[in-house]
Amino acid sequence: MILLNSVSVTFENKVALSGVSVQLPQQRIGVIGLNGSGKSTFARLLNGLVKPTSGTVAVNAINLSIDARAARAQVGFIFSNPDLQIIMPTVAEDVAFSLRGKGLSAAELDSQVAEALERFGLTELANEAAHSLSSGQKQMLALCAVTIAQPALIVADEPTALLDAANSAQVQNFLLNEWQGQVVLVTHDLGLVETCDVLLRFEAGKLAEVGEPATVIANYKKSFA
Ligand SMILES: Nc1ncnc2c1ncn2[C@@H]1O[C@H](COP(=O)(O)OP(=O)(O)OP(=O)(O)O)[C@@H](O)[C@H]1O
Ligand SMILES: [Mg+2]
Repeated sequence: MILLNSVSVTFENKVALSGVSVQLPQQRIGVIGLNGSGKSTFARLLNGLVKPTSGTVAVNAINLSIDARAARAQVGFIFSNPDLQIIMPTVAEDVAFSLRGKGLSAAELDSQVAEALERFGLTELANEAAHSLSSGQKQMLALCAVTIAQPALIVADEPTALLDAANSAQVQNFLLNEWQGQVVLVTHDLGLVETCDVLLRFEAGKLAEVGEPATVIANYKKSFA
């Protein structure tokens, strides 16, 4: 459950979000709105990358302002540009890095990494240099590295922006069909979010609408027609 209570975010003098209150128990949450409307600011609030200037943000009853580390541990973040998420030299090392500090034996680590690589079709690439992968392969690597840590929530900010139609469909299928946890999917690709359980529409820093996808998409189109 995601809970925002009267949240505003101001960067220097610029109001990025104001007066956002919303309760989101749904599993698959889509976020749409024009450039600069506040979508990324909303997404970044959910894992503490952005702090509210006023108001509170909680994920599964953990208040991000009070216990940022515990809150962050349950939120995995996916950026548009998967290059930003590669930390280690090879594919397998990058995925294994997500399990650091979990006290696993080398054998347990290897088996969990192998299983995760298999799930994302990355087994053949395990020992390749992570930066040598294609954009689509890198985004699958980012998803692999994020999900292996078993977050309760994945927040993806335009995860398909750099991908071709086939890779976009793969990411969409993973996030909206396979992934059993909660997901917040920010996108300009309206087709991507039409099967979500709920859509949020931001407009000029305000949460303009929360509702059923077809209605929210229709109102969005009307808003700039
Ligand atoms: N770090 C920052 N410093 C100053 N202003 C910022 C910062 N981040 C966002 N903003 C401003 O806040 C507003 C909302 O930005 P945000 O990135 O949330 O929009 P967005 O809906 O994600 O847009 P886009 O579709 O272009 O990604 C914009 O006016 C933006 O310029
Ligand atoms: Mg954005």
